[in-house]
Amino acid sequence: METRTDRPTTRPAVPEHRPAPASPAGTDHSPNAPISIHDVTVAYDRKPVLWDVDLDVPEGRLVGLIGPNGAGKSTLLKAILGLVPVISGRVAIYGKPLSKQRKLLGYVPQRESVDWDFPVTVRDVVQMGLYGQVGWFRRLRREHVRRADEALERVGMTDLADRQISQLSGGQQQRVFLARALAQDAQIYLMDEPFAGVDSATEKSIVALLHDLRNAGRTVVCVHHDLQTVAAYFDYVILLNMRVVTHGATADVYTEENLRKTYGGQLTLLSSAATALAQRH
Ligand SMILES: Nc1ncnc2c1ncn2[C@@H]1O[C@H](COP(=O)(O)OP(=O)(O)O)[C@@H](O)[C@H]1O
Ligand SMILES: [Mg+2]
Repeated sequence: METRTDRPTTRPAVPEHRPAPASPAGTDHSPNAPISIHDVTVAYDRKPVLWDVDLDVPEGRLVGLIGPNGAGKSTLLKAILGLVPVISGRVAIYGKPLSKQRKLLGYVPQRESVDWDFPVTVRDVVQMGLYGQVGWFRRLRREHVRRADEALERVGMTDLADRQISQLSGGQQQRVFLARALAQDAQIYLMDEPFAGVDSATEKSIVALLHDLRNAGRTVVCVHHDLQTVAAYFDYVILLNMRVVTHGATADVYTEENLRKTYGGQLTLLSSAATALAQRH
């Protein structure tokens, strides 16, 4: 974990214009890290929502991105994917700019951020995830169908492949997203609250799938809000509240004290997390 003592604690509401900063002293970035976030600041309408985020995500881990509502978790995933402009800093994927590495990334967006009335089938959505990867040649399209169907099978959605997405339950919608990401066969997966609004059977099968991906050497970063399951699901955590409070192996940094630093006064959440932590011992 890194602690910064060299920066003032009160800062202007809008960041001053700075040249692209070098990594702050004490932070080593590895060119082999799947995701290297170098001093990234993001603002919406000049209001900063992520401030000087600086860390490497280690390879082959199942990483929980944890923090209160509005902490900037979704924004951080979007910054990694190049979907929001950064005010300063940069992100490297295995040491190279995103533009060269896009194919290595699979994204599962937050379910509510999508228009589920759009008239397409389940199989269409999964195949659409592949269009960026290869051209429109017929042979490759056949390959797409195969990969999409394989992915739908893995998430137990084969029977619903031809159904309109507007007719799916929340859990089924989430499975479609997962199938889409699986079909991309990415090296790094970024998932925004994959368990939100799913039933417990779906949650269990998603957890199993995430563990499979991790065990196959993939790196998975999941935004997660249920503090009680963090320790069971993730082997690495990033605690975020506009800034990175801490990051590291779950066993080392997922402590009540660090949760308090992350969540401040939101005590209801904290007491349920404390119960879960106590149950671990
Ligand atoms: N497109 C946007 N325009 C303006 N403000 C936004 C936008 N998206 C998110 N925000 C704001 O940025 C902050 C961080 O949002 P978000 O990354 O969605 O947080 P989290 O995912 O941790 O709940 C919040 O205050 C949110 O209201
Ligand atoms: Mg979010």
